[in-house]
Amino acid sequence: MIPIKSASEIQRMRAACAAAAEVLHTVAAMCVPGVTTAELDEAAGDLIAEFRGKSPFHGYKGYPGNVCVSVNEEVVHGIPGKRRVQYGDVVSLDVGIILDGYVGDNATTVAVGVVKPRTQELLHVTEKALYTAIAKARAGNRVGDISNAVQTLVEANGFSVVREFVGHGVGRKMHEEPQIPNFGRAAEGPKLKPGMTLAIEPMVNAGTYEVEMLSDGWTVVSADGQPSAHFEHTVLITAGDAEILTWPKKKPLK
Ligand code: MF3
Ligand code: CO
Repeated sequence: MIPIKSASEIQRMRAACAAAAEVLHTVAAMCVPGVTTAELDEAAGDLIAEFRGKSPFHGYKGYPGNVCVSVNEEVVHGIPGKRRVQYGDVVSLDVGIILDGYVGDNATTVAVGVVKPRTQELLHVTEKALYTAIAKARAGNRVGDISNAVQTLVEANGFSVVREFVGHGVGRKMHEEPQIPNFGRAAEGPKLKPGMTLAIEPMVNAGTYEVEMLSDGWTVVSADGQPSAHFEHTVLITAGDAEILTWPKKKPLK
């Protein structure tokens, strides 16, 4: 069963998602050479607490961080620690918050200074894949329309979509039905209906789509060591265009 949110639930989703967006925007702006990934995590934790929210990631299956910070060939679920961000890195940040019983989830990948043209292109194509997918997130369409939009754009640009991790419904819980793969056939899968809230999240590798898990049990890396990118929004299906719930409402101070 894919939950359909009531008007009051949607209001709470809007609040949670706006907060998640602001936290993400703030830590993204902190991605400068020399900052440690633990410092990013701590700043995110502080801001989440200021919102009187909680991180849905912290403690999830024992995950130790507030957020995920995945650098270069790390795809997702990088555990924050002593590593320092360096000039030329690409840093994927995944931020969720639970506010008033509802979860907002979003991610972005930032380039720290100038990166290789092909890496910059990877970021651009992954972000574009997200918005192309959101354009397909319409009542009457199916999950496969979202999946296919991502895969088609990504592969047309010579990149590959990660298979092992997928987008998902989001609401009372971080992961609800349906699963939203970043690959698949158009017009297949569950039908989208107004009131569904979905986390759409292309994870795209520059080289092979194959991934490996590091010995920490969390960090997922590309099997060939080439860079990876991750962009995610939580969206609301409506009678018209999807509403992107995780646009930041407010710019961070710095
Ligand atoms: N945004 C990720 C997801 O949708 C976050 C999970 S990280 C974890 O699955 F640590 F909580 F697993
Ligand atoms: Co997610």
